[in-house]
Amino acid sequence: MYSFNNNKITIKDYNTPTPWMNYMSNGTFHTMISQAGGGVAFYKSPQIWRINHYRFFHLPTDRSGFYTYIKDGKTVWCPTNEPCREKPEKWSATHGMGYTRFEAEKNGINVTATYFVGEFENALIWNLKLKSDVDKKITIFPFVELGMMEFMRELQWQCYNKHQLSCYNMDDVLVYKYAVEMQPKPDETPLVYFAADVPVKAFDCDRDEFVGAYRSEENPQNVEKGECTNSTLYGGDPCFALQLEIDLKAGEEKTVNIFLGTAMTEEEIKKSVTHCREKDFVDKSFKKLAEHWEEHLSKFRCEIPDKDAEVMINVWNPYQAERNFQFSRNISFYATGTFRGVGVRDTAQDILAMVPFDTRRAKDKLNLLFTQQYKDGHCNHYCFPTEGWEPVTRIHSDNHLWLVMAAYNIIMEEGKLDYLDEIVPYYDGGEATVWEHIKKSIDFCMENLGENGFPLMLSSDWNDMLYKVCRKGKGESIWTSMQLGTVLPYMAELAKLKGEDGQKYLDIYEAQKKLVNTIAWDGEWYRRCITDEGTFIGSAKEPQAKIWLNTQSWSVISGMGDNGRKAMDSVEKYLDTPLGIKKIHPAMTTDYPTKDANLTMYNKGCGENGSVFCHANTWAIIAECILGNADRAYKYYHQLLPMIAQKKAGEWRYKAEPYVYASNIFGPESDKFGLANVSWLTGTAAWMYVAVTQYMFGIKAKYDGLEINPCLSKEMLPAKVTRVLRGCKYEITITKNEKTFVSHIEGRKEYSITI
Ligand code: GLC
Repeated sequence: MYSFNNNKITIKDYNTPTPWMNYMSNGTFHTMISQAGGGVAFYKSPQIWRINHYRFFHLPTDRSGFYTYIKDGKTVWCPTNEPCREKPEKWSATHGMGYTRFEAEKNGINVTATYFVGEFENALIWNLKLKSDVDKKITIFPFVELGMMEFMRELQWQCYNKHQLSCYNMDDVLVYKYAVEMQPKPDETPLVYFAADVPVKAFDCDRDEFVGAYRSEENPQNVEKGECTNSTLYGGDPCFALQLEIDLKAGEEKTVNIFLGTAMTEEEIKKSVTHCREKDFVDKSFKKLAEHWEEHLSKFRCEIPDKDAEVMINVWNPYQAERNFQFSRNISFYATGTFRGVGVRDTAQDILAMVPFDTRRAKDKLNLLFTQQYKDGHCNHYCFPTEGWEPVTRIHSDNHLWLVMAAYNIIMEEGKLDYLDEIVPYYDGGEATVWEHIKKSIDFCMENLGENGFPLMLSSDWNDMLYKVCRKGKGESIWTSMQLGTVLPYMAELAKLKGEDGQKYLDIYEAQKKLVNTIAWDGEWYRRCITDEGTFIGSAKEPQAKIWLNTQSWSVISGMGDNGRKAMDSVEKYLDTPLGIKKIHPAMTTDYPTKDANLTMYNKGCGENGSVFCHANTWAIIAECILGNADRAYKYYHQLLPMIAQKKAGEWRYKAEPYVYASNIFGPESDKFGLANVSWLTGTAAWMYVAVTQYMFGIKAKYDGLEINPCLSKEMLPAKVTRVLRGCKYEITITKNEKTFVSHIEGRKEYSITI
């Protein structure tokens, strides 16, 4: 049970089918927290500066977390509901923008616990408000189980390395020092602290002392005893536990703040804690956080009859997209935060949804990706700017082309060419302007065409599963040809704006277009790719995986497909399900095309093999808008709204959060049709936002102004939209018959509007 209310969602049952997460962050210190208080905090990187243990493979899967035990006589319970067996009588969890709040009541004690990371200190703040019906003396124990900061090293070497850790008390501030040999960045490794703004009666730094043998966070022995033992830890398994005695007077509210933070030295910890304990610090931090999100979300707001869509467009979709922009695919309930840094492909797509909010942030991130580009135009696949590890250097056929798309979007949003002149180094030496970088992206494609004239697949295109069709280096990607076709007109437009000759890009476009409509056309749809052996994947002649979604949608997005409309009709006919569009049909067996060179080991209907791949659904929505098919676009959009898909599948089948998009949903060829996977960190977030704002509402930044070209079905009309472009606020009204009116409400209006 849950309900949406403005910018927040309130969850009434603690035992959701999977942990339903939220993220908190100030850009340096981050926390992911579940509806039951479980989760993980990290400084900059969950790979090398992870603060607490997060044992996602143990049951329950969100432990441990940020718990406060309330000991009221013999009764011990937690406002987060978990991990105690003793449950509150009344309880709810609310995820909001950058904070999570628990409201709980038991035996006349009422607790509101708000967790957030503020802008002013690198700390997770737990703001506890306690109240009792009658006079009561209670003891509370805030607790965090610490881990080794490097999670992979902990898995492999903890028996030795844990004896290099220390955890101790410094004037009632607990300090954790991770100083393990061979860690990648010892000089940048912070100390971690834990402090309260009320007197500390006692503490524990030794987890085993606090929890006791054959117990867990469910029932720590020192909580049961009611006393911490002032244990320190110089080698072993650390924790932070505080014992705080609270005297509650009937009806009076007491506030206790707990700070789990980082600082580089003991001196800096002292300063940071002193700052945290200042009277208005917590309120000021929370207010600033609320203002930040208010401002962020004000850039695009809509009012439409479909209220589920409205809350996604105004709140959760841009919020999720921002989290993706920050965390890439690094850590979530599904992603382990152990090996994926910044993926060039993934992050370049995330940038698309940051552009309308903050072009400087978008540019900085894109510049980072350009540092991964080589002089020949190709890119590393992932990089690790925070961890400092060597990048993954595999060459994929799509990475470099996403950079062009992201750069083009930035230029259009800003309506000036300056960004093209920013200078960014190449990975293999030398430097060039952004304009040169993106030209190299196209050059690389042209230097790497296959026998049939399509771009070589290399180590796969967007679809990771296709890495098997090209091991001999000959496989070609028809989809990459369409991706190239999408960005070539952008290059031609930018060249023209720069006063250069861009005809070459249009010539390449025409040549690729011809191939798409001859070699790639199968009769009812576009084929997907060509294998090393010269056979087609995605053809009616094949027994399996006959039709693939992406080459249909991108035949329209690129404008290349003469038969785009027919191809999209085939999508509806063969791939659409009540819970979204499958990526391929029919799903494959593990001996296709041959047993030795099979395409997949995925079970039918799972992941890449015939699931509803939500990320790719967004492109079908865009294609239908381009074709002017508002009803179908809405159908595809609406059926994937998380709360709609969840309702249709059932909460216990869908499992994931009803407020953020998932990467994929098990398809009808699975007996778990409707099970959502890999929520939060997925390209679905950015692209769904682009699909609905730029194609369904059709509100797009163009070089000389705003273009408004809606493709909205009756469920979205009438629509009132506020869009901020270049500091100027527009109010756009789209009536039931799709007539559009624009009024300019704030800022200097200096841009033309095309309707
Ligand atoms: C996953 C990957 C993404 C890839 C997609 C399709 O979402 O994170 O990089 O493009 O799968 O294979």
